[in-house]
Amino acid sequence: MLENIPDTFLNTTSKEFRVLIAIENNMKFYEWVPIDEISGFTKYNIKETGHILFTLAKKKLIQRNIAAYEGYKIYFEAYYILALKAFVERGSVNAIGDFVGVGKESRVYSAVGGLTNREVIIKFHTEGQMSFKKVRIKREHLEDRKHLSWLYASRLAAKREYDALKLLYPNVSVPEPIDHNRNAIVMSVLKGKALAHTQVDEPEWYLDEILAQVKKAAQIGLIHCDLSEFNIFVNPQGCEIFDWPQYVTFSHPNAEELLHRDVDNILTFFKKKYRVKRDITEVMNSIMELCQKK
Ligand SMILES: Nc1ncnc2c1ncn2[C@@H]1O[C@H](COP(=O)(O)OP(=O)(O)OP(=O)(O)O)[C@@H](O)[C@H]1O
Ligand SMILES: [Mg+2]
Repeated sequence: MLENIPDTFLNTTSKEFRVLIAIENNMKFYEWVPIDEISGFTKYNIKETGHILFTLAKKKLIQRNIAAYEGYKIYFEAYYILALKAFVERGSVNAIGDFVGVGKESRVYSAVGGLTNREVIIKFHTEGQMSFKKVRIKREHLEDRKHLSWLYASRLAAKREYDALKLLYPNVSVPEPIDHNRNAIVMSVLKGKALAHTQVDEPEWYLDEILAQVKKAAQIGLIHCDLSEFNIFVNPQGCEIFDWPQYVTFSHPNAEELLHRDVDNILTFFKKKYRVKRDITEVMNSIMELCQKK
């Protein structure tokens, strides 16, 4: 089903979208949104609303519950197509293309968008699809929220990633942030290949390039917190660092420790694969020095 976001999107009518939005909006107030609230929001009469709800349930975009009264909630799949609809309305996406891949917490699609129909990437966050317990352990930024929902978790992750890219781009080599809605972001396409899956000819030069980007991000006040050879693309011009939702700022109580862990991941990778050695204390000092001068 999720692999089929483009088809699901194309097969959803504007009235169905309106009903989905009505349910989504009212999920703030109800666990199961009553049919009369949906009808009140959409201005479709109860009979028509009931008919649309029936079709949406058949398409597995919404879930129906009749335990106490007739109520509805949207499934994750509906959230994806609502985000896509917002992008299409704003012109940041004109057509969705191939499924690029699936990460631990994301689904990534290629697309074209904007006035020039340039190639872009849509990253849909899927955080809330794991158990909430796991999300809470993994994502520090959710700790103070008692009423977690997948809707909130995935939207927050997407927003955080978009915010980070906005702060970093273009000073730091990261994908260009283009748009954000619900659990999704639109960004430029990474150039090159993942550092983990390629053999570079000048490892010293690439290591310097990566550390230079880490330094620039630190000067802006951001620490990636999941830096590894899998979240860096390399190309003949340099590198791009991506996958930022778990970033922290230097005001975080463990900022230095988290930066140390990021730097250590990269130095360890270069040492093991390319036998390039750097002293971590020296690297850390050079970064911290720059940050303190700010
Ligand atoms: N802007 C982009 N351009 C091209 N490919 C991308 C882009 N963003 C993500 N990808 C591809 O999608 C994969 C998953 O993206 P990302 O690392 O951001 O998500 P993730 O859920 O954290 O994945 P993982 O858990 O595997 O690290 C990447 O490894 C990369 O191959
Ligand atoms: Mg990643």
